[in-house]
Amino acid sequence: MAPRWCFALLLLLCAAARARAGADASKWKWDPVIRMPGEEEPATGDESSEEEDGVGTRWAVLVAGSSGYGNYRHQADICHAYQILRKGGVKEENIVVFMYDDIANNPLNPRPGVIINHPEGEDVYAGVPKDYTGEAVTAKNFYAVLLGNKTAVTGGSKKVIDSKPNDHIFIYYSDHGGPGVLGMPNLPYLYAADFIKVLQEKHASNTYAKMVIYVEACESGSIFEGLMPADLNIYVTTASNAEESSWGTYCPGMEPSPPSEYITCLGDLYSISWMEDSETNNLKEETIKKQYEVVKKRTSDMNSYSAGSHVMEYGDKTFKDEKLYLYQGFNPANTNITNKLFLQAPKAAINQRDADLLFLWRRVCFSVM
Ligand SMILES: *[C@@H]1O[C@H](CO)[C@@H](O)[C@H](O)[C@H]1NC(C)=O
Ligand SMILES: *[C@@H]1O[C@H](CO)[C@@H](O)[C@H](O)[C@H]1NC(C)=O
Repeated sequence: MAPRWCFALLLLLCAAARARAGADASKWKWDPVIRMPGEEEPATGDESSEEEDGVGTRWAVLVAGSSGYGNYRHQADICHAYQILRKGGVKEENIVVFMYDDIANNPLNPRPGVIINHPEGEDVYAGVPKDYTGEAVTAKNFYAVLLGNKTAVTGGSKKVIDSKPNDHIFIYYSDHGGPGVLGMPNLPYLYAADFIKVLQEKHASNTYAKMVIYVEACESGSIFEGLMPADLNIYVTTASNAEESSWGTYCPGMEPSPPSEYITCLGDLYSISWMEDSETNNLKEETIKKQYEVVKKRTSDMNSYSAGSHVMEYGDKTFKDEKLYLYQGFNPANTNITNKLFLQAPKAAINQRDADLLFLWRRVCFSVM
C-alpha cells in the first residue's frame, strides 16, 4: 500500500494535469459526423428483424469516460462496441455515443484518423457518430440521454433513448473509476447513487422491457455493490469487484503487443473479452449467462487473478438465459468464424493504474480519484 501522503500528492498533480488537459482540449475542433460525405452507412446483418421479431427496438448508450491519448484504450473500446452493434443490425439512430474524440486525430496517433482495439484489428473509428463529444461528454447529459429527456441535454446531437415499453437497452461504459465513482472527461464524475437513482427513474417511466449494463473501470463493482436493486429488470456486469483495479491490455511489451509505433494500450481486458466473444459467436444462441462466464474466465487471467480482476454481476439475475442478440443484435457473419485471430487471449494484461504509468506519469491521477 502506498502511504496516504502519496495519494494526496497524486491528487494535487491530478488537478494540475486536468487544468492542462482542459487547455489542450480547447484546441480541438469537432466535426458533426465522422463518416465522410457520400460514404454510405455500413451494411447491417439483420435490418428487418428488429420490428418483426416482436422484441421492440434495441437501444444502446456507449460511454468512454476519459480523454487524452494515454487513455486511447477507452475510446477504442467504445468505437469497437459501436461497430459490433451496427454490424448486428442495431440502427445508428438507436445508438448514442459519448466519446471525447481526441484520439483519432491526436498528434500522437501513429495512424491518423484510425483507431484500433486489437493489435491486428481493423479501424473501428469510421462511421462512429459524434453524438456527444468534447465538453458534451458529461454525467448530466448521460442521465438525460438515458431518461430520453431532450430538453435536459446540453450540446451534442440531442439524440436520446426514446424507448418504449417493449424495448431492450444496452449500456456499456469504459474508463477509470474509484470507490463509488466513474470517471468523466468533464467534471463532475458519475456517482453511484446518482446513477442508480436515474436507473430507478427510467424504470418508473415504464420505457423498457429489460436492460443490460456492462461497466469497465477500476473498482467498478463499487457502483452497484449493496446499491443495485434487483427489481428494475436490469442486469449488470462489471470488470472488477468493489476493491480492485481492472486491467488494460494489448499494451506495449505484452504478447500480443500493439504494432511498434503505438506507445499506448489498445484495449481493456474485460472489454475486449466481451467484444471478441460477441464477434465470434452466434448471438441468437449465446445467452447473457454464457458471455458472463466466458468474460469472467478470460478477465481473471484464466482463474489465476495474477494479472486480472473479478468480473461481478448485479441487479436482476432472473433473465440471464435470454439471448444476447436482444441487446447486441445479430451478425450472421459471426456464426461461422474462420478467423481465429480474435480467439487468442492476450498472454498478459496490465492493471489500469500501471497502464497509465506506462504512458505518462500524470495519468495516474485518474485512477485515484
Ligand atoms: C426534462 O428535463 C427538464 C430540464 O432539466 C426538466 O425540467 C423536466 O422536468 C424533465 N422532463 C421530464 C419528463 O422528466
Ligand atoms: C463455414 O466455413 C467453412 C470454411 O470456410 C466452410 O467450409 C463451411 O461451409 C461454412 N459453413 C457454413 C454453415 O457456412
